[in-house]
Amino acid sequence: MVLSLFFGALALTAYAAWRGAPWLPTPRRAVGAGLAAASVQPGDVVVDIGAGDGRVLVAAARRGATAVGYELSPFLWVFAWFRTRRNRARVTVRLADGFRADLSAATVIFAFLRPATMPLLAAALAHRRTQHPVRVLSYAFPLPGTPAAEVLRLPGCAPLYRYTVSSHG
Ligand SMILES: C[S@@+](CC[C@H](N)C(=O)[O-])C[C@H]1O[C@@H](n2cnc3c(N)ncnc32)[C@H](O)[C@@H]1O
Repeated sequence: MVLSLFFGALALTAYAAWRGAPWLPTPRRAVGAGLAAASVQPGDVVVDIGAGDGRVLVAAARRGATAVGYELSPFLWVFAWFRTRRNRARVTVRLADGFRADLSAATVIFAFLRPATMPLLAAALAHRRTQHPVRVLSYAFPLPGTPAAEVLRLPGCAPLYRYTVSSHG
């Protein structure tokens, strides 16, 4: 029973790596600079597609925002859940596929994916059922088909791309 759960979680973690990206944390300095560049503040709803260890969610909550993280790996989901307990009034971590999530309430979306899976993020953005524009932060890889409003280049970090994406609906 325990072994089946462990191997099931392992299989889902491998699936997450293929579906979006394997776990690799965004450097804290890039998280902080990105949220500041996107002017994250109270009233914002920050969604992290692939919450990893929950660091983006904690940083967003510290700026007064509400944060929702989607994570497909059960190991990382549990880790992020514990890590964000202190901020539980503002943070939710869901064991679910972020590309299938309803992103309508998001005002800011954070992602650190792979070049091959960036089109899935673009598709998820295009399918939002809302009229309001959303600020998007993508660490390391650009969003296809949308010019960046800003590219942050921080020492020791990959580029961080910032966008404002309008609804197509
Ligand atoms: C490169 S890590 C980034 C983690 C975190 N966002 C950060 O910046 O530190 C990508 C994470 O996304 C998760 N993931 C990949 N595809 C996903 C999907 N479709 N839905 C939810 N989580 C996903 C992986 O398990 C991994 O933890």
